[in-house]
Amino acid sequence: MKENIIAHNFSIKKEDRLTLNNHNALLIWFTGLSGSGKSTIANALEKHLYSKGIHTYSLDGDNVRQGINSNLTFAPKDRSENIRRIAEIGNLMVDAGLVVLASFVSPYREDREKVKSILGFDNFVEVFVNTPIEECERRDVKGLYAKARKGEITNFTGVNAPYEAPLNPDIEVFTTNNTIDALVDIIYGKIKDKIKL
Ligand code: ADX
Repeated sequence: MKENIIAHNFSIKKEDRLTLNNHNALLIWFTGLSGSGKSTIANALEKHLYSKGIHTYSLDGDNVRQGINSNLTFAPKDRSENIRRIAEIGNLMVDAGLVVLASFVSPYREDREKVKSILGFDNFVEVFVNTPIEECERRDVKGLYAKARKGEITNFTGVNAPYEAPLNPDIEVFTTNNTIDALVDIIYGKIKDKIKL
């Protein structure tokens, strides 16, 4: 089947869209435990980028899993497929000229490496939201850790499923001793040159 798929050569290219937007495109990938603060930080960073006229879009576990990935569970194979699809969607959005903020537990190193290879080195930044499990569990915003401890959720990351922390993230942030504004400053400081045309 694949050999019969021939790409159409569209006249308007990514470069044209970037010129129109007046900024570069990028996928910012937030990884960390459930409750680590990924979506909160992504939300604050997106507001900051928006205020600077940057065209953005946020993807996160809760919205994507209710839509395009609603057929996937938290078993390891499904998590990999979850991440693969998000990488492909993120890649299209980057081609469309957007700065994409993707917040996913993405517990497997190999899956995150695949995201990087789909996007390419220049288009991808990995942000490790390094919040200890004790703190995530103390926050337990969604009450999921309590359920997982009671055995009501299987495959729950950090409780009865693994989290493989990044060995060499582009950016690592700590949420226990920093304000959200400080974290936005840190991350923006590190990505602003990548977003510049
Ligand atoms: S991922 O592992 O496939 O990357 P994803 O980021 O999409 O996970 O979804 C994680 C969110 O789903 C968590 O923030 C939490 O709200 C919810 N969730 C439900 N069940 C689980 C589970 N077994 N493990 C982790 N998160 C879960």
